[in-house]
Amino acid sequence: MLNERRILVIGSEGQIGTELMWAIGNRWPDCFLVGADLKQKQSGAWVFVQLDAMRAGELLEVVSEYRINTVFLLAALLSATGEQAPDLAWELNMQSLFHVLKMARDGYIRQVFWPSSIAVFGPTTPRDNAAQSTVCEPRTVYGISKYAGELWCQWYHQKFGVDVRSVRYPGLIGYNALPGGGTTDYAVDIFHKAVRGESFTCFLAPDARLPMMFMPDAVRATLEIMDVPAERLSTRMAYNIGAFSFSPQELAAAIQRHKPDFQISYAPDYRQKIAESWPAVVDDSLARADWGWQPEYELEDMVRVMLWELEKKQVSPSEG
Ligand code: NAD
Ligand code: SER
Repeated sequence: MLNERRILVIGSEGQIGTELMWAIGNRWPDCFLVGADLKQKQSGAWVFVQLDAMRAGELLEVVSEYRINTVFLLAALLSATGEQAPDLAWELNMQSLFHVLKMARDGYIRQVFWPSSIAVFGPTTPRDNAAQSTVCEPRTVYGISKYAGELWCQWYHQKFGVDVRSVRYPGLIGYNALPGGGTTDYAVDIFHKAVRGESFTCFLAPDARLPMMFMPDAVRATLEIMDVPAERLSTRMAYNIGAFSFSPQELAAAIQRHKPDFQISYAPDYRQKIAESWPAVVDDSLARADWGWQPEYELEDMVRVMLWELEKKQVSPSEG
């Protein structure tokens, strides 16, 4: 564990980054925090640097200037946008990871968090309860980059002792930022439509069941794994972490329990094939055993809080 954390979050303006920045400040109030993104900063009192994570020189400059010792690397292209821009997805997802792993290898930083995804799995993976170590034959550029990234993290750890930690996030649902191009992001959009009293057309089929998680649990997992004594981590590939699974029709039914007039229709597109290639449930027993992972939110809790928070924003949009 680090005494004085000096943290850089790359991709701080994205869906996870915007929530992680606040959570870091709460968990480690004395830390020095820097956000970085290709986009402009939206809010927050921390130092912010606009940079391109594919440029090693820009990253090293920030790490040196602010004496950073911990990096959370969140910048990436996700599954759906990755299929539209495969070259960029591969370049961004891999180059940024290599730059950060090499800075850790060379002693500039002491600890790295880099997220993987359920996208490492593919159609040959068992669909129910996909194990921590199982067949991984991803069919998306995004999934290939995440699985390759996991192997590189393991390699840098074994070869150079790099303290890199990772989890395979399921689809994440939060209310602070708009989604960034994932296959599971319908499960965020649907809430925005529901609170505006609009109907929703889903790009997945009604029964496309996938593993999902409410953002506060994902953020807590991210911070918890960074605080675990190294000897408790039995893998430096990414840990499966799970919370609950649902299909679009199950999510719509849960929303209709609060908003009976809400309507959903279905127009599956290329993202349906991606969803079909992923498991419906993951087995996260290794994360539970190694570092005590435990989700707090069930589907019904998540739906209630999402509707409540987005309705508050409708009333006072300036509050973020
Ligand atoms: P996001 O798309 O919302 O955010 C990514 C951020 O990275 C954006 O703010 C973007 O501007 C920034 N970025 C893109 N290119 C950049 C570059 N060249 N330099 C600097 N910044 C750049 O994504 P997210 O949902 O916050 O996901 C963050 C991480 O978590 C990604 O690695 C993603 O693969 C992983 N993940 C997300 C989910 C999910 O459901 N959201 C699930 C599994 C894994
Ligand atoms: N939620 C992500 C996506 O759909 C999975 O990593 O791309």
